[in-house]
Amino acid sequence: MADWTNNRLCRLLGTEHPIIQAGMIYNSGAELAAAAAEAGCLGLIGAGSMRADFLREEIRRARALTDKPIGVNIPLIHKHARACLEASLEEGVRIFVTSAGSPRKVAGPLKKAGALFIHVVASAALAVKCEEAGCDAVVCEGFEAGGHNGREELTTMVLVPQCVEAVSIPVVAAGGIATGAQLAAALALGADGVQIGSRFAVTVESSGHAAFKQAVVEGVDTLLVMKKHIPVRLLSNEFREQITALEAAGATREELAAMLGEGRARRGMFEGDLAEGELEIGQVAALIDDVPTVREVVDRLISGYDAGIGRLM
Ligand SMILES: Cc1cc2nc3c(=O)[nH]c(=O)nc-3n(C[C@H](O)[C@H](O)[C@H](O)COP(=O)(O)O)c2cc1C
Repeated sequence: MADWTNNRLCRLLGTEHPIIQAGMIYNSGAELAAAAAEAGCLGLIGAGSMRADFLREEIRRARALTDKPIGVNIPLIHKHARACLEASLEEGVRIFVTSAGSPRKVAGPLKKAGALFIHVVASAALAVKCEEAGCDAVVCEGFEAGGHNGREELTTMVLVPQCVEAVSIPVVAAGGIATGAQLAAALALGADGVQIGSRFAVTVESSGHAAFKQAVVEGVDTLLVMKKHIPVRLLSNEFREQITALEAAGATREELAAMLGEGRARRGMFEGDLAEGELEIGQVAALIDDVPTVREVVDRLISGYDAGIGRLM
């Protein structure tokens, strides 16, 4: 059985396992974050679709479900990013995973509040910028990942060793990790831990719609679309076909933005509109074939890790 007492990420976050349950719009609310924290991981509430008042309520609900630390994920392009950050600090949150923007923008207030500050990147050059900006760790997210993605197309297998080489802060591998063997592979590449999104989106405690979870269980085919506008990896459906056709016809950034509109992600993942909504999920969709509890996922990750390590002997 793995012992991560001296693991740098576990020590930094105060967790039993070197696993961060990723922030995910419409999926990672209070229940998911609290369940992940209870299972020994860092649980994150994904603020990317929330207004500050709603986020406050989610933080309080999570606190009522667990006394273990939880954090908040804030994509910095979110129009309520600053308000969400201030509300989280006021609610006593001291662990932040930011993404989609410059970490310099928020380093000041987070450091002043004594918060742990982790940023998500898709290249080693940006990992270096995170270290320079004062981040306590960096999430290096490969091309396989679900949700919005960098344009670099670097896979986790290639990105992680580059980041490990480039920075001295802990490196968290993300993208394409859903099993214990993949967790072992990420640590073998030199990562201090992992951030897992898609696998946790398809759990009992995820706030995603049941139809979305079932679509992932049945689906295998994902594609990174909208590289001109804001790259996002989506499960196959009618909406994705429309976007792909528009892109092939040479649509402008503005036309793609209009097509995406405000509500597509909510429609797909939260309201279960499988045809017209956006279904964000990673390549590991092909490995996800059930909807277990968070505790079951974590148990499988740990036993799969041990089995994976065992295969190397
Ligand atoms: C449904 C879904 C929604 C996501 N939403 C966000 C988000 O709001 N903020 C963010 O930083 N990343 C988001 N991501 C990316 C995850 O935080 C994470 O880095 C990624 O899922 C890791 O790759 P994996 O899906 O292969 O595990 C999302 C991913 C998924 C699958």
